[in-house]
This record gives sequence, C-alpha cells and structure tokens, in this order.
Amino acid sequence: MEETDILVIGAGVAGLSFAIKMAENRPDLKITIITKSRLGETNTKYAQGGVAAVWNLEVDSYEKHIADTLDAGDGLCDKSIVELVVREGPQRVEELIRWGAKFDQQNGMYDLGREGGHSENRILHYKDLTGWEIQRALLEKVSQYKNVQLFEQIYAIDLISQHHLGYSVSRVTPDITCYGAYIQDKTKNEIEKIISRVTIVATGGAGQVYRNTTNPTIATGDGIAMVYRAKGRLENMEFVQFHPTALYNPAHENPDFLVSEAVRGFGAILRTTDGADFMYKYDERKSLAPRDIVARAIDNEMKIRGDDYVLLDCTHLEKEAFISHFPTIYNKCLSIGIDPLQQMIPVVPACHYMCGGIKVDEYGRSSIRHLYAAGECTSTGLHGANRLASNSLLEGLVFGHRIAEELTINIDQVHLKEGIPDWDAQGTTKPKEMVLITQSWKELKEIMSSYVGIVRNNVRLKRALSRLHLLYQETEDLYQSTILSPQLFELRNLITIAYLVTKSAEMRKESRGLHFTTDYLEQLPFLDYTTL
Ligand code: FAD
Ligand code: SIN
Repeated sequence: MEETDILVIGAGVAGLSFAIKMAENRPDLKITIITKSRLGETNTKYAQGGVAAVWNLEVDSYEKHIADTLDAGDGLCDKSIVELVVREGPQRVEELIRWGAKFDQQNGMYDLGREGGHSENRILHYKDLTGWEIQRALLEKVSQYKNVQLFEQIYAIDLISQHHLGYSVSRVTPDITCYGAYIQDKTKNEIEKIISRVTIVATGGAGQVYRNTTNPTIATGDGIAMVYRAKGRLENMEFVQFHPTALYNPAHENPDFLVSEAVRGFGAILRTTDGADFMYKYDERKSLAPRDIVARAIDNEMKIRGDDYVLLDCTHLEKEAFISHFPTIYNKCLSIGIDPLQQMIPVVPACHYMCGGIKVDEYGRSSIRHLYAAGECTSTGLHGANRLASNSLLEGLVFGHRIAEELTINIDQVHLKEGIPDWDAQGTTKPKEMVLITQSWKELKEIMSSYVGIVRNNVRLKRALSRLHLLYQETEDLYQSTILSPQLFELRNLITIAYLVTKSAEMRKESRGLHFTTDYLEQLPFLDYTTL
C-alpha cells in the first residue's frame, strides 16, 4: 500500500464513482481506496429518498430544477455550479444505471418521487433503500477493475504536506502540496504512510457532532478536519442541515432512524400532538416546504407546546402502495409498536447533512495542490445555505466524474514525492482511560445540541465556544501524550468540526438558510472565511 498513483479516502458514492471512472479512463494507474470502517458502511448506504435528476422533459426542465436548488440555497449557491450539476446530472444517473443500479419503475417508466422544495416529481428511487442499492452497485462495479485496490479498516489520520518535511505552512502559504496521508491499520494499530501522486478526500459528513443525527457513526468529519489542519480552505460550515423527520424513539438510537421526506412527498402531513395541521402557518408549500423551514417550524411548535415530538400522519394513505414504497420505514415503525397506517408516527428534527466543507472548484480541486475532494465533505457551491433534498447523491456522482475527467489529462504532470518521514510517535505512552474519550465525546454532542442547533443566538454561541476551547485543550493534551487510537482521532476531528460550525455561525451576523439567529434577522451580502 505504501505507494500509489491515486489515493482515494472514502468508499461512498463520491469515492467509488470517481474510482470507477478513473480506472476505466486510465487502466495504467494504480488506484488505492481506503475506508475506515467495514466496506459499505457509509452515509450513502443510508440514503432513502433518492437521486434528484430532470428525467421527464415533458413536464420537468433543467430550469425548474436549477430554480428549486437556488431557492433552497437562499442566495448562497454558485449559479454556474448549480447549472452544471443539474445539466450533467441525468447523464451520471444513466451511467449509474448502466453500472447496475436499479430504480423503481411503473408501467415501464421510472417512478419519480417528490420531496420538499422540488416543484416537480424528479426523484429516482429504489423503494426507501436507494442508498443501499447505489452502494451495492458501485461496490460490485469497482471490484471489476484490476487497477483498483480497496482496503477496509484503514483510518486516514492526516494529509502529508510540506509541514511534515519541516517547512512552516500557514493558511496564506500559496503552494501547500499534498503528498499522501498517514494512516492507521485498525487491525494492527500501526501508523504507516501512503504516498500518492494525487489524493481524493471523499470522507462524507459530520453528523456525529450532534446528539441526534441520522448519520452513521462513521460521519465524524475527518476529511474536513484534516484539510483544515493542512491549512486548506473551507467555507459555509455554519450551514448544518437538520432533517425534519427522524423517528422519535424514546430508546435512543445512534444513528436516529430517518423517516424519508419522500413520505411527505407521498402525501403524509405533519401535525402537532393534538392532531392539528400547522405547516400552513409557516409556508404555502406546507409539509413540502424546504427543509430549513420545516425543521424550524417543528422546533417552534415543540417549544411552544412543550412537546418532545410532532406527528407525521400517514393514516389516510393507501396501505399497499405505502408498504411497497416504504417497506423499511413501515417495518421499523412496527418494530417500535407503531403501525403507521393506523397511528401517527412521532418525529423530531435531527442533524442530517453538512452543507459546508472543503472549498473546491468545478473540477473538485481544493486550495491544496494535488488534493481533490468530492461528496458531502465539500463545499462546491451547489447547496449554498441549504441543500435541496436528494441533490447530494447527484453531487457526489457529478463531481466524482469531473475529477476523473480532469486527472485523466493532468495526472501525468504529477510525481511521487520522495523523502517523506515516518510518523513520529515519540513521547507517547500507553493509552489513558478510554472513559476520558467517551465522556468528552458526550460533552461535545451536548454542547452542540444545546447551543448550536436549529435556532441560535450570540450568547449560546459564545458559551459553546468557551466550552469547546476547554475540550480542545484536554483532547490535545491526550493526543500529545497517548498512543493514538481511531476513537481519539475521531474525537479530535469532531472538536475541530464543532469549532468550525460554531465559529462560522458566530461570524455570520445574519439569518440565512439553515443558519437562523434570533440576534440578526436580516440578511447581509458576503462573509469572508479566511479568518476561520
Ligand atoms: P459517505 O457515503 O459517507 O462515505 C464516506 C466514506 O469515507 C466511508 O467509506 C468512510 O468509511 C470513509 N471515511 C471517513 N473518514 C475516513 C477516514 N478518516 N479514513 C478512511 N476512510 C474514511 N442524499 C440524497 O441525495 N438523497 C437521499 O435520499 C439521501 N438520504 C439520506 C438519508 C440518510 C439517513 C442520510 C444519513 C443521508 C442521506 N442523504 C441523501 C445524504 C447522502 O447520503 C450523503 O450526503 C452522501 O451519500 C455522502 O456520500 P459521500 O461519498 O460523500 O460520503
Ligand atoms: C430523505 O429521504 O428524506 C433524505 C433525502 C435527502 O437527504 O436528500
């Protein structure tokens, strides 16, 4: 593993679709994919609703999908990126179908679903298991390429740059360059290096920074934190998307189970615990308004009434059709004693998606040379201040493809760096009590959930920053003196994510999209992230 042409960190939709394309274009190159968990344990696997793409041009159009994405993004999308993703999207989905992914059909046509913020039915889906199906198809396809090696249980710790060769690097250094990554083989606990000509970060989201999240436990923001430590550019970290309808389960689960927005697209209605419809008070699109609006409305109703949840009413929906569209959701509800066709489903908002992240251009190039990024860990300009439902899988496919296009031509100019030192483990001693790590992780989630949630204000953000500072110092002390473990790396990365979300939120003196603060209800033109 020590040397490779291309190192891909992450095996979800972004990493795998890139690797397939690259392997096809350049069979002469060695591509190494690493994933820190078991293969297939990704945010991608959990996706329910589907992939948004303009499919039926008789009723839908690129212009409508572009307008819906811009509207959800609340003024912060990059219009050229939105146009590019929406227009290239259908080709990437067709490609995915050729690679073996199945989507539901009715009468020989794709059965297009609807979700919040979409003006047309344009969501291709496979029951309520779309992500599982995509992950399956991509893993099967990638295994056909002899020049791709896929390793599981390999944890990327840090990107290698000039800093590791003894040069000082700051956020304004113009030519920061990536030479690969230090990694830990979780089965051996050894820290090694992988030197690569180029590196792709496709590490997914960071939902685990909150107490309630739909994201699996791998979602610890590692890629974003690594790029931040390497002094790369990030943006829009304050825009954390809360999904309005995670299943309320008194026996707390991690992750929280999602009740897809497609259920509302299918006709389900949000109600307060007394059975009253309430969304009409907040938006004319009611239960199908964009997510930021629905999540805030639910949060408000719960606060006004002192309730722990609101209800999702599916009782009027046709039984057979519901079960055939949403078998997983139906069975999950039954497993906790709720028959969704007889009783309303208790739901709460939960952290779901990180709209900001590693700043990349239209070819997935980060601000660090030879370092690319794709998928949820990035900020491409597609989502702006709030992601439109089902645009994320699409973004991963489009950017995976675009990075492969760019590297197919340009990688020949890049060479492996020599003289990269081994990881320096001097001064560390045996692991301290594990409870120090788990306790700090709990504290971190509490801080973020209490002070940096759906509704924010200056006092809460200030309090969060001072608590985070303490946690940061304690964790750094542990990091300098302890034999390192993935749990400690993840805690350290999550503290970085928490800082970035909170600091960006504090810097944004306005309410926009997913960032809602009671101190500033107006909108301002521009925010400069270089001081983060
Ligand atoms: P992921 O799929 O999360 O993959 C990340 C990979 O990086 C994993 O292989 C992981 O092991 C690896 N990794 C992370 N850190 C390290 C490290 N330090 N070292 C090595 N490997 C590492 N989006 C839609 O468009 N439509 C939907 O219907 C939809 N539904 C969703 C439902 C749920 C419950 C969730 C949680 C998300 C949903 N999303 C949906 C969002 C979407 O699934 C994700 O944004 C997208 O799949 C992210 O893909 P990715 O390739 O960027 O990352
Ligand atoms: C859902 O199915 O509600 C999730 C869709 C998404 O996050 O894009």
